[in-house]
Amino acid sequence: MKALFLAGGEGTRLRPLTDGVPKPMVPVMGRPLLERNLELLKMHGIDEVVLSVCYRPEAIERYFGDGSDFGLKIRYADEDLPLGTGGAIKNCERYFDDTFFVFNADVLSDINFSAMLRYHKRKKADVTIAVTRVKNPSAYGVIEYDEDGYAVSFLEKPAPHETVSNFINAGVYLFEPRVLRQIPSGRPVSVERELFPKLLARGRKIAVYRGCHYWLDIGTPEKYIQAHRDGFDGGLRLPEVNFHERAVYSRLDARISGKAVLRGPIYLGRNVRIAPGAVVGPRVVVGDNGVIGRKCRIANSILWNDVVLEDGVEMSECIVTDANTVRSASRLKHVICTPETVKAAKHLAI
Ligand code: GDD
Ligand code: MG
Repeated sequence: MKALFLAGGEGTRLRPLTDGVPKPMVPVMGRPLLERNLELLKMHGIDEVVLSVCYRPEAIERYFGDGSDFGLKIRYADEDLPLGTGGAIKNCERYFDDTFFVFNADVLSDINFSAMLRYHKRKKADVTIAVTRVKNPSAYGVIEYDEDGYAVSFLEKPAPHETVSNFINAGVYLFEPRVLRQIPSGRPVSVERELFPKLLARGRKIAVYRGCHYWLDIGTPEKYIQAHRDGFDGGLRLPEVNFHERAVYSRLDARISGKAVLRGPIYLGRNVRIAPGAVVGPRVVVGDNGVIGRKCRIANSILWNDVVLEDGVEMSECIVTDANTVRSASRLKHVICTPETVKAAKHLAI
């Protein structure tokens, strides 16, 4: 079975985390968000993926290549200018001749894709949309549906007074290829604002699938932090990493001094070094090649790859992006450090 990932957005709301990388490459527990999603797909036997890319596509292509390192067949569809969600799907028409999944690449969920496919077939739908319930629907696409489980209206990013439904589009769809003929080519099209309302107006069946328990759109730094909080708490279950209380998940080759103290839950990437006297955790991610110097104290923080904390650094509730060095004896709290900026972020409660 094939899947299409919409991975061309700029990730503006996630800045400064997306200053250096496209949103699908932002790491979640040490691995790119997109890789975390591909791991889930493989569990459901989806092995052919088309990545619809637009913003900084080279970073994505360099990492995933043809997919063989990930046990998948991956192809790319590039856009010179953003085509919108619907235009991006149309742009990939040539790859699909059977029912296929479409994913917003910035969503993490525990949707049982196999069950969703069975549901889609049973409902004989043209499109099936997974929905989830949220407290504040106005940041999303709100869907109203009838008692038979078919959508009756869509309202994208409604003002709070405009909607009565708390069910939103979860950004996971099943499409029948015949629907692609309904999307105009050569111009930007939004599935949410244009295609779905048009399908309804033409009497096509859009089924709504409600089997979603965990769901998160990693659209802002706060949501990014929440994904990690949920990962450490066990609310977000990733195929490869599952935290029990106080667990230290370590890829094989960490070098940890016997005189360092680790307080789980902690995630350590490949080739991490932790020097004597360091106190690490709880709730810390150290990405690949991370170096934690002597007597550092670090808690509730996320370090991306190739980050060096020189000796004596004290850090809590921070995010440090790729290849940063934090100078000896720095004291950092509530900041996002990128190569260009150190941005205060008081809400970083991991
Ligand atoms: N290829 C391509 N081209 N991809 C795009 C484009 C484009 O022009 N525009 C957006 N995308 C991708 C983004 O990278 C993202 O993965 C996905 O499409 C959705 O875009 P967002 O910009 O993240 O949309 P949103 O979060 O505001 O709203 C969407 O997702 C919500 C659920 O998270 C909508 O689908 C809402 O209806 C939905 O509730
Ligand atoms: Mg989004």
